[in-house]
Amino acid sequence: MSLIKKIKDYYKERKSLLFTTPSHSQGNFISPEAKAILGQKYFKADFSEIEGFDNLRCPKSSIKGVLDKISQIYDSKASFMLINGSSSGVIASMLSILREGDKVLIARNCHISVYNALVLTGAKPVWFYPKLNKEWGIYKGVEASDIEEKIKHDTDIKALVITSPTYEGIFSDVQAISNICKKHDVKLIVDEAHGALLNFGAFNSKPAIKSGADVSIQSLHKTAGAINPAALLHISKTSDIEPQTLQNSLNLINTSSPSYPLMADIEATVDFLSSKSGKKHIEKLLEDIEIFKKSLPDTVKIFSQNNDPTKILLQFLNNNAQDIAEILNNKYKIEEEYSTDNALLFITGIGTDSKKLSKLSAAINKISKELLTSSQNISGLNTAYDLPVKIKYTPRKAYQTTKVSIKKSQACDKVCGEIIMKYPPGVPLLLPGELITQEHIKYIDKNEIEII
Ligand SMILES: Cc1ncc(COP(=O)(O)O)c(C=O)c1O
Repeated sequence: MSLIKKIKDYYKERKSLLFTTPSHSQGNFISPEAKAILGQKYFKADFSEIEGFDNLRCPKSSIKGVLDKISQIYDSKASFMLINGSSSGVIASMLSILREGDKVLIARNCHISVYNALVLTGAKPVWFYPKLNKEWGIYKGVEASDIEEKIKHDTDIKALVITSPTYEGIFSDVQAISNICKKHDVKLIVDEAHGALLNFGAFNSKPAIKSGADVSIQSLHKTAGAINPAALLHISKTSDIEPQTLQNSLNLINTSSPSYPLMADIEATVDFLSSKSGKKHIEKLLEDIEIFKKSLPDTVKIFSQNNDPTKILLQFLNNNAQDIAEILNNKYKIEEEYSTDNALLFITGIGTDSKKLSKLSAAINKISKELLTSSQNISGLNTAYDLPVKIKYTPRKAYQTTKVSIKKSQACDKVCGEIIMKYPPGVPLLLPGELITQEHIKYIDKNEIEII
């Protein structure tokens, strides 16, 4: 059973008079401004749980049909549509595995949703930093030997959370890491938010659930062409996590009014990705990216260290990458995903075609001809950090504790009450409950650090 078919058939077959939510009555009323940007069709697909449309909390018919199809395509034990992004998948998977006080090993370059899950579960984080790539100012992949050492040292760790590929496309060796996790009875959650194309193309890494992870979470909206915040969660066939446990966790945090257009788009996106034309589309994307990379001048260095090629990370020799970003933005109206002093990141995906890449290439070639030197020394600036973490309160206790504002000059040896991070890399320098040291204050003074 297909949700897309159900929505289409509604207008052909039944068309009951619906005295249900949503109150726009399938587009009977749309505010003019919303209509101008969204059109009418979106509203015509916007239903609630009317007869035959199933219920995301306990799928039995059309939604169940879509989930079974997705599970078959991804070869999972069970798959779930995430109607609140990978964020909700990360939280639900941690809620399913961890109890209050449980220890969880977490790579510090994780998404903020992992921290949110720590507040909700009451679990105790054991943080570690993947090694730094100082030349590029980014984190490397997680090393299996580091994980083994940490798990041996802390024998009551229940789960490990890693991000692979990272924001910049760096893969970890999930197979080697999962072998260690299995040996020590540690559940492995892989945040694969940036890896939604892995199942459908020739990448350097297999999808995480095919490499022994218990759970993986993929944002279809990031690279796979779906609308925000479409995502998927998969349980591996080799995992003993029960699908109903994950369903219960999702039911705890999901809205009771899931968007049917969003779910229909998830179905359509997976249908496309798994079709012959989807495969060809991804092949063509990877070819176009290769052609793009070859078209860049010698003064541009391309990051290529066993990473996801759809994340294009570039350095401009002798030039500060933020200067280049400014020129791209102002003169060429081209926006990058992010820039640091060291590098520029461009994210590509299903919607990136050769035309778009040619425009970027032309701009970069022109800039490189015009601007060969810069006053800034780029080495060692704005790199990702790895300052030691000292936990005073668990994230949940810190969240629930009353906070006071104090001057930064008085903050040394106090417990942090806010999330303090620099973006990029978007990795917390300090989290609520962690001890503020002189080193942190020095770092905050030297850099533009945000408190969120
Ligand atoms: C590594 C990683 N995990 C999870 C998320 C959350 O994804 P979503 O926006 O689909 O909730 C993000 C978002 O930026 C991310 O970068």
